[in-house]
Order: sequence, then C-alpha cells, then structure tokens
Amino acid sequence: MNNVTDRYAVIGNPIAHSLSPEIHLLFAEQTNERITYEKLFAPPGDFARITTRFFANEGRGLNVTVPFKREACGFVDQTTQFAENSGAVNTILLQEDGTYLGANTDGIGLLRDLKKSLHLQVQDRSVLILGAGGATRGIVEPLLREQPAELLIANRTPVRAETIAAMFRHVGRVRSCALDEIPVRPYDLILHATSAPLLNSRLTLPGGIVSPNTCCYDFMYGKDVTPFMRWALAQNAGRVVDGFGMLLEQAAESFFLWRGKRPDTDMARRCLRPDPAA
Ligand code: ATR
Repeated sequence: MNNVTDRYAVIGNPIAHSLSPEIHLLFAEQTNERITYEKLFAPPGDFARITTRFFANEGRGLNVTVPFKREACGFVDQTTQFAENSGAVNTILLQEDGTYLGANTDGIGLLRDLKKSLHLQVQDRSVLILGAGGATRGIVEPLLREQPAELLIANRTPVRAETIAAMFRHVGRVRSCALDEIPVRPYDLILHATSAPLLNSRLTLPGGIVSPNTCCYDFMYGKDVTPFMRWALAQNAGRVVDGFGMLLEQAAESFFLWRGKRPDTDMARRCLRPDPAA
C-alpha cells in the first residue's frame, strides 16, 4: 500500500449537496488507497484561482461540477478525446510532468448506469435531453454511438442546444429545439440535465412527452425525490430515477484515472444507498 495520502476534491457552485466525498472515500477504502477528498466552493469567476491554489497545495486530482465544466476544459493543458470533443471536463488529473489532463467521465457514467442498473438499451430508442450545459456536452457523443432512433436536445436558450447538436452531427442524427417547443409525443428516455433545481427554479414541460413506457432520468440526486422526478411520477412515467447511479459510475471512472484501480460500484451502491429513493 502507498504510504502517502493524496489530496482530491470536487469543485462547484453550489457544492454543499455533493455526495462525491462519501463516494470517493468509500472507493479508497475498497481499494486500499490513501486519499483525502473535500468540497471546494468557487464563486463565479474564481474557478481558475481556486483550482490553481488547490494543486499548488498538494492537490492531485479534481472533479468539476456545475457550472465549471466548460471553463475547466480551457484550464487544462491536455484533454482526452471525449473531453476535447465535448468541450467539457469533469475530471482533472495532475500529471507527473506538472501538466493538467482533463477528462470527461459523464457519458461513460450515464451509459454504465443505464445498462447495468436499469438494463436499458439506447439503441433504437427515442431520447430527449433537457438542458444544454456542461453535463449535456459530455453525454451526446456516447449516446449517439449507441445509435438511438432519435436524439433531441431541448434547451431554454435554443442556440446553445443547436451548438451542441451541430458539434456531434458527424457522429449521428441529433436535433435541437427550445424547451417550450418540444414536439409533443412520448419519448422512450427523457434525461433531465438542467441546473434549474439548483437555482430553485422550475421547468414547465408538456405532459404528452411521457408515456407508461418512458424512463425519466434526472441527473440531479438527493435524499428526496427531485422536482423533475415528482413531475415524471405525476405523468405516470414507466420508470423514474435520479442521477445517483450516474454519479457513482462517473466517479468510479475518475477514480480509475487517478489511482489506476477500479472500485466496485455495486458494493458502493448497496453501502451508500441501502434503501434507494428511486
Ligand atoms: P451543467 O454543467 O450542469 O450542465 P451549466 O453548464 O451551467 O451546468 O448548464 C445549465 C443548464 O441548465 C443550461 O442548459 C441552462 O439553460 P440555458 O442554456 O438557457 O441557460 C439550464 N437552466 C438553468 N436554469 C434553468 C431554468 N430556470 N429553466 C430552464 N433551464 C435552465
């Protein structure tokens, strides 16, 4: 076992709700790795300053969450292919030569959770993504590679949805629209990736986009049912889940990048969420 304790953290705004420290400390226990893992709050405009200070003070790796994934992509020296294609980074690794490597593990995390926990295949399904921020950028390419029947990105600011759709049209068929212009028919999978609940605001969505066959998946998570999950339950969606599984799987991939060891996410899930809300 390595005798040095290495320092890791997650940076975001807000950050108090994050479960990443519990998850990574459990992974470390499972794999006999010695790490600390803390939460870093960054005011708007302070991401680079706080990140630089963290790495100057023995930081080895950082998870990046709302709203800094785009900024993190500009901060790092190198990116993995997925991060470069998406323009969003959720994992930073300090390399031996002192340079920063940026990765994006959101897409892998989402797909692993969909397949492993929900046994849901994306192939030939209709998929609707709500939101066009950093989280959406990381999932469009991996989703398209699964060959969905259709992929539609709907966003409050439609031009941001179209920017992302245009980035990935070479990978597969993807369209965009405004949040209030979603074609009303049932989708097989609806992914909620806006930060509206974190900002204490509500989305207004048409009920006709959900059927008893629809899986509604919220990227948010928490002890309680989220506002999007509550809405989906009221529409009688077939399945309603939160983003805890995705969080766990993307964290496992980050942990692997940092430590070279793969944690057991099934065991972590049983440990951290013995009585799942969803
Ligand atoms: P993340 O990294 O989690 O994606 P982000 O990059 O800040 O966070 O993106 C936030 C997303 O939530 C955006 O799609 C944003 O819509 P806009 O592009 O129109 O800003 C969406 N969002 C935030 N508050 C919202 C609200 N009240 N209603 C609808 N969408 C909202």
